[in-house]
Amino acid sequence: MKKIKDRAETALANAENFEELEKIRIEYLGKKGKLTQVLRGMGKLPPEERPLIGQLANQIREELENQIEDVKKEIKEKEKHAKLKQEVIDITIPGRKYNIGKKHPLTLILEDIKGFFIGMGYEVVEGPEIELDYYNFEALNIPENHPARDMQDTFYINDKILLRTQTSPVQVRVMEKTSPPLRIIAPGRVYRSDEVDATHSPMFHQVEVLAVDENLSLGDLKGTLIAFARHLFGEDRGVRFRPSYFPFTEPSAELDISCIACNGAGCRLCKYSGWLEILGCGMVNPKVLEIVGYDPEKVSGFAAGMGVERIALLKYGIDDMRLFFENDLRFLYQF
Ligand code: DAH
Repeated sequence: MKKIKDRAETALANAENFEELEKIRIEYLGKKGKLTQVLRGMGKLPPEERPLIGQLANQIREELENQIEDVKKEIKEKEKHAKLKQEVIDITIPGRKYNIGKKHPLTLILEDIKGFFIGMGYEVVEGPEIELDYYNFEALNIPENHPARDMQDTFYINDKILLRTQTSPVQVRVMEKTSPPLRIIAPGRVYRSDEVDATHSPMFHQVEVLAVDENLSLGDLKGTLIAFARHLFGEDRGVRFRPSYFPFTEPSAELDISCIACNGAGCRLCKYSGWLEILGCGMVNPKVLEIVGYDPEKVSGFAAGMGVERIALLKYGIDDMRLFFENDLRFLYQF
């Protein structure tokens, strides 16, 4: 029995984990364990020796059980330390590098446009993208069957509701609930059922400009928009107004700037005309003023509308509008 005890103790001293410990326990103290077998064999002993041997066996069992408990505690402690060691944080490791976001080029252009007009006392307003036919066409002097409706391919939701094709309906909404004088710009998304290519997208952005007051003249329109064009494209930029037609303005014009690529000499970008169109504008048609309840004899207004993508393409020298919407970081990080 002493030999069994010695061997058990040596084994315990070498046990490194719970599995090994359990194996030792079974080997010596289990049902078929070495010590248990000795106790079972007691029947073969002379009766007077039995109590002595029994006592000794029980004592050894108790001792071994205590030792097993002790070793168990030691292993637990060891494992705890190993775990803590593993979890140690090395504060000398260099930090992770985070990519800092950048403003989208369209956001930059929009902020520039807003900044200019806010500086001139204009207020920034918004209108709905899902719009009534009435505001998008009817109230802008574009009645049903008017050829101007074909100029813009419209996404209709039903007979009366559509995705706005322009920001001009915001003019009407603002005038309906405000009396002059007023100066607003209305930036936002517009929709047209165009095929996607380098210069077309079914969704793009416009900024609408509207000023109404007594005695506003074409001179006010020209002064404002020339200052705006030069703010965006440089103080020396050539500008010209070219007569045009929009149902909601009379007279109407388009504003051109001298080509930013060739400075007017003629190149591929300006299609050899020397000029680039940047916006449409005009004096608010008296019919529109009447529709919103203004008296065209007392007040007049001027308006303009521009495509933000188009201005961004020109200003940054980008040749494909799709780049704005693909969100390729290699493109976006350049601005
Ligand atoms: N809404 C026109 C378009 O989408 C642009 C425009 C032209 C707006 C002349 C105006 C304007 O306010 O006066 O093509």
